[in-house]
Amino acid sequence: MTFNLSKRIEQIPESVFTTMSRLAVENNAVNLGQGFPDFNGPDWLIEEVFNAMKQGKNQYAPSIGILTLRKNISQLYRSIYDINWSFENEIIVTTGATEALFSAIHSIINEGDEVIIFEPFYDSYIYDVLLANGVPKFVTLHKPDFSFRVDRFEKAITDKTKLIILNNPHNPTGKVYSFEELKIISDLAIKHNLIVISDEVYEFLTYDNVNHIPISTLPGMKNRTITISSAGKTFGFTGWKIGWACANKEFIKGIHSIRQWTTFAVNTPCQHAIAYGLTKINEYLPDFRKLYQAKRDFIIKELKDSLFAPTIPYGSYFIMVDIPQSKNDMELAIELVKDYKVATIPPSVFYSISDEGKSMLRLCFAKQDHTLKSGIKRLKEYKI
Ligand SMILES: Cc1ncc(COP(=O)(O)O)c(C=O)c1O
Repeated sequence: MTFNLSKRIEQIPESVFTTMSRLAVENNAVNLGQGFPDFNGPDWLIEEVFNAMKQGKNQYAPSIGILTLRKNISQLYRSIYDINWSFENEIIVTTGATEALFSAIHSIINEGDEVIIFEPFYDSYIYDVLLANGVPKFVTLHKPDFSFRVDRFEKAITDKTKLIILNNPHNPTGKVYSFEELKIISDLAIKHNLIVISDEVYEFLTYDNVNHIPISTLPGMKNRTITISSAGKTFGFTGWKIGWACANKEFIKGIHSIRQWTTFAVNTPCQHAIAYGLTKINEYLPDFRKLYQAKRDFIIKELKDSLFAPTIPYGSYFIMVDIPQSKNDMELAIELVKDYKVATIPPSVFYSISDEGKSMLRLCFAKQDHTLKSGIKRLKEYKI
């Protein structure tokens, strides 16, 4: 017997990550495609989950998140960005940044509302908007520095535009938006009375002393910005799925309304561990950054002897590389995984209006040194 599923899901194809990971396994390939670390975060944080469990912190958490975690998030942002989010009603803990994005978009978007999305994009934005019956409108970040054209950005804004989704630092390009770029975005957001969702999950992963600036800290932006982050990225435990959103209390109420009927609450012992982790963030971050800076420098240096010319990422753990002109990203990604046993991500799937993605591949360098070495060795073996 067959059943008809909802029309809603017809617009959702299999994700490129599922496809490439399946091909990686089938071909026994080194996986430089999958966007998460292949190593553990800190042991002392794992101990904290264990301790929380032994102390009986195993039942449902408050729906907006445990108090100590909300307090520590508030304290964290006060100390590093000098911004005040009230732990009482301006912070909600979510099941990863993913749930924060889904709930925020669903609490804002009505049918037909337009949403500005920079491409290449993190793909969940598109499907969140489509599932909410919104209309994505794209602005391209152009190679080689992934800057956007202000005239095209302005032109993308119409009477129906309600929301801008920003991802900073940026997956997949590693771009970190400058103050000047953020000012252009914020000026237009204010001029047209738009809401901004700022996905800042890689806020602590920047390189070469480049500074991450949350757009919420620009004048006039705090009240119209929903800032989203993820402890999964900061502590290297993506599977714990602890994220959060900070925003004015009306937005947080909206996100909470949706979440009450999706997950209701987030995994309790991991919240306790992350609350503790945030108290140690000043000791933790320098080594964390050093580790990733070394991986980024290594991959850039090694790729110079290959046919894949790297563009320098200043944030996140991704790097875009140019591919030989005679190839397109899809066919090359498949050739690489099958014949050279190395999995990458073809980034054209992260574009809607531009072809630029066809000339690149995305690699993830959140990998153990031996994984990186053997993946890069295989890329260097590639000849046309
Ligand atoms: C830009 C971006 N936003 C959100 C997420 C999802 O974060 P989480 O694992 O906390 O749900 C990811 C994960 O790769 C990401 O790259």
